[in-house]
Amino acid sequence: MATEPFSAVEVIRAKRDGAVLSDEMIDWTIDAYTRGVIAEEQMSALNMAIFFQGMNRSEISRWTTAMINSGERMDFSSLAAPHGQKLPTTDKHSTGGVGDKITLPLAPLVASFGVAVPQLSGRGLGHTGGTLDKLEAIPGWRANLSNEELFSQLSNVGAVICAAGAGLAPADKKLYALRDVTATVEAIPLIASSIMSKKIAEGTGSLVLDVKVGSGAFMKDEVMARELAETMVNLGTDAGVNTVALLTNMETPLGLTAGNAIEVEESVEVLAGGGPEDVVELTVALAVEMLAGAGVHDVDVRAALQNGRAMDSWRAMIKAQGGDPDAALPVAKESHTVVAQAEGVLVKLDAMDIGLAAWTLGAGRARKEDSVQAGAGVRMHVKPGALVRRGQPIATLLTDTPEKMARAIELVEHAIIIGSEDDRPDMRLIMDRIAAS
Ligand code: URA
Repeated sequence: MATEPFSAVEVIRAKRDGAVLSDEMIDWTIDAYTRGVIAEEQMSALNMAIFFQGMNRSEISRWTTAMINSGERMDFSSLAAPHGQKLPTTDKHSTGGVGDKITLPLAPLVASFGVAVPQLSGRGLGHTGGTLDKLEAIPGWRANLSNEELFSQLSNVGAVICAAGAGLAPADKKLYALRDVTATVEAIPLIASSIMSKKIAEGTGSLVLDVKVGSGAFMKDEVMARELAETMVNLGTDAGVNTVALLTNMETPLGLTAGNAIEVEESVEVLAGGGPEDVVELTVALAVEMLAGAGVHDVDVRAALQNGRAMDSWRAMIKAQGGDPDAALPVAKESHTVVAQAEGVLVKLDAMDIGLAAWTLGAGRARKEDSVQAGAGVRMHVKPGALVRRGQPIATLLTDTPEKMARAIELVEHAIIIGSEDDRPDMRLIMDRIAAS
């Protein structure tokens, strides 16, 4: 049996005592954990030591590289359009929020400018929805593509939203499952390396990160969100991926829907030149960043939503994956509308409460193997900042399982705060832009 160059205990002790882990130690740790040489309890202890002691920039970078090297790396450098010209690639990652359907209009919008978007996405877990769950509300649409199908769709259509294969950063899959059950998810070095190992392994040429801040986000606090964004931007840049981040507000859901089919419906409204202004604003801002990262400047992104160009790209993308863009979307069997109990300014419509309500109604899952209801969710009728009358509808709850309604109503009632003009909320959506330092 080959001897191991380190022992798990010495690595844990070094980090526990605040030492900087050497490159060799980090490479060995990720490899030995993937091979099962480091036991789960030892990795738990190391994660907790990292949680308390942190990691410096070079440790995080090496940890990320080691996770990338645990699996396959995709390469889109040979990607070409049908008439032969090279296609630049770009991608977006959101740290997760409520009503965050932006990927749906964004990928076809960016692709309509001749930049390929390989958007490898996940399913929802907990109060934030998953892009694949939303798209699966479209009859016939399929999330799993082979690498050949992915490449062919990128060349022919330009945009793909599909499930990430199991081969990308497998060390992260094992590590993330462990962090989830050992209260070590919220460590910035671990979150940043987890997200960026998958994005770098995916092989995109440029990347835009949407780092959410607020009640419905991972990071409730702006200082922490900023640190996470800076860490990820530096990781991407050091790995040769042109990376920027936007810090965006997640105190209230994006748009007026949180669910699956209802979020697809709202995305299609945006692609048809309408839709809620916050969804349009963020879609356009992220598209401008993605296009700039891929070398496309001075284009009228908003016009592509108005003139049908992005919609054509959406329809081609959905059809290429077996979906029928004209099919009616599933509708929930039961609904209940929550109304304003007072007159005044809607000061708060809390993202976390609305996300939990949508999840309770069946739009999300508690365990990975659960299925989701396509029609379930929360349709909001007003945004914070609006003046409301007593009795005015605030939100309609949708579900196929009426026994879930009472708990969801409580959550939505808890989400609503009505106050006076003096309490008017700060509705700024894009809080900052963070580039490499
Ligand atoms: N998403 C990830 O992929 N990893 C994390 O650690 C947190 C969010």
